[in-house]
Amino acid sequence: MKDKLSILDKKIKEAQLGGGAKRIDDQHKKGKLTARERIHFLLDEGSFEEIGMLVTHRATDFGLAKEKYPGDGVVTGYGTIDGRLVYVFSQDFTVFGGSLSETHAEKICRIMDLAMENGAPVIGLNDSGGARIQEGVVSLGGYADIFYRNTLASGVIPQLSAIMGPCAGGAVYSPAITDFIMMVQNTSYMFVTGPNVVKTVTHEEVSSEELGGASTHSTKSGVTHFSCANEMECIQYLKTLLSYIPSNCEELPPSVAYTAENEIRESLNTIVPDNPNQPYDIREVIEHVADSDTFFEVHKNFAENIVVGFARLAGRSIGIVANQPMILAGVLDIDSSTKAARFVRFCDCFNIPLLVFEDVPGFLPGTDQEWNGIITNGAKLLFAFSEATVPRITVITRKAYGGAYDVMNSKHIGADMNYAWPSAEIAVMGAKGAAEIIFKKEIGKAENPAEKWKEKEQEYNELFANPYKAAERGYVDEVIEPSHTRSKLIKAFKMLENKATKLPKKKHGNIPL
Ligand code: HXC
Repeated sequence: MKDKLSILDKKIKEAQLGGGAKRIDDQHKKGKLTARERIHFLLDEGSFEEIGMLVTHRATDFGLAKEKYPGDGVVTGYGTIDGRLVYVFSQDFTVFGGSLSETHAEKICRIMDLAMENGAPVIGLNDSGGARIQEGVVSLGGYADIFYRNTLASGVIPQLSAIMGPCAGGAVYSPAITDFIMMVQNTSYMFVTGPNVVKTVTHEEVSSEELGGASTHSTKSGVTHFSCANEMECIQYLKTLLSYIPSNCEELPPSVAYTAENEIRESLNTIVPDNPNQPYDIREVIEHVADSDTFFEVHKNFAENIVVGFARLAGRSIGIVANQPMILAGVLDIDSSTKAARFVRFCDCFNIPLLVFEDVPGFLPGTDQEWNGIITNGAKLLFAFSEATVPRITVITRKAYGGAYDVMNSKHIGADMNYAWPSAEIAVMGAKGAAEIIFKKEIGKAENPAEKWKEKEQEYNELFANPYKAAERGYVDEVIEPSHTRSKLIKAFKMLENKATKLPKKKHGNIPL
């Protein structure tokens, strides 16, 4: 037995060394952790159970028969985070650059299958040169096997991707199908074709970082939801994110102990400026309403005219969608609609109630928006809210104009409770524009048209720039003092906690993609 144990020990040590000490050293010199170190920091101490440690590839071409590393470039298994089961795969760049072989893919698929069968999240730590070039189509097939599982698992279990090195070519499509992507600044990149191909095809000269680094994808493309300063921050973000979401679509999100306190927040009464054209930071509203220090913003630097993220209210997870008057006056455009729609759908998949703060002057006009499809893209948000069956509450803090009023979780598209602050203005459009259109003739004939226009603007304002017409109709359930918002929301979400709504029988809807 002693000899046999020593053989086992040798094999384990060999596997743990991945591509060898020199390559581990190179990895560290690049400021990157190894695949195993990442798992060590991600999971609860001592909880990791590895699966497939001794798997090797089966390829023989290009001298590969002689070059085998136990584990074949990916460490897979399960463990816990804050005591909750998760499945994880961590690509090992020290073995063939973390490239994906047939067996590497099989290991990932096994983890995904187990995660689906047992209803727990999958976390992928990506650091890979893409398809294992020596294996050809077998490797491409392996990718497709993963993509297929990503799609089947979507909406069943949360799938989180951390990009901690290269992620190029078709490999990007696995993270893209998952629910959230995190990238590490300066050491990770994602692109379909790298700078060399770009130069050949389009003659553009661009660095990897500029083309597909964390900064690019967190601000310009919106591909990544979080841009992390380093790997430890990325790992912390993964843990924080998980703390708000359930393990699968059948469960409720975890809640934390909460002791009721005085829920009246006087500070909320002074955030919205008297001048309706003056901006304010909607995050201030969110922070005063949510439990202290629980707001965890998603997609922070992309489409900043809308703010989305998770928070807790009386210890329970909620998803927040809020127009941001500080950026473009909080207008809805293509990017903000897509960003919010995706977030709404995630929350709805995983039973996370939605809270909307609304201060929106409408959709952004102009050729850029129209030619790039604001119609289709704006419809995504409308569709996402309409289809969501989780408890949904809206608070109109100020403007709720035009179609955007309908889209932002209005009563008409299924919101459960709609509140308005006394500062709310719910109308088809702003008073100035409205007066110009409906009193055009009167203004034109007036002795002093400018004065008449002002007078009519005032008239329209008095009639519509308030929440009371909507309240009279019941479109708004209650006009509330801002300081009471938190207490109203706690009670209303509690009242809605057993909400059970079924959509009409169908195979699936056809969201305007
Ligand atoms: C096999 C690979 C590999 C790959 C890297 N290596 N990529 N082995 N298949 N795809 C190996 C290298 O030979 C090297 O081995 C080690 O990994 C580290 O690579 P380096 O080049 O030394 O590292 P670095 O300078 O950091 O560059 C990393 C890299 C580069 C940018 C990822 O290796 C690279 O460009 N690789 C090829 C990327 C690529 O074209 N992949 C295919 C994309 S197409 P040694 O033995 O020296 O340590 C694709 C299709 C998927 O993925 C389609 C799905 C539908």
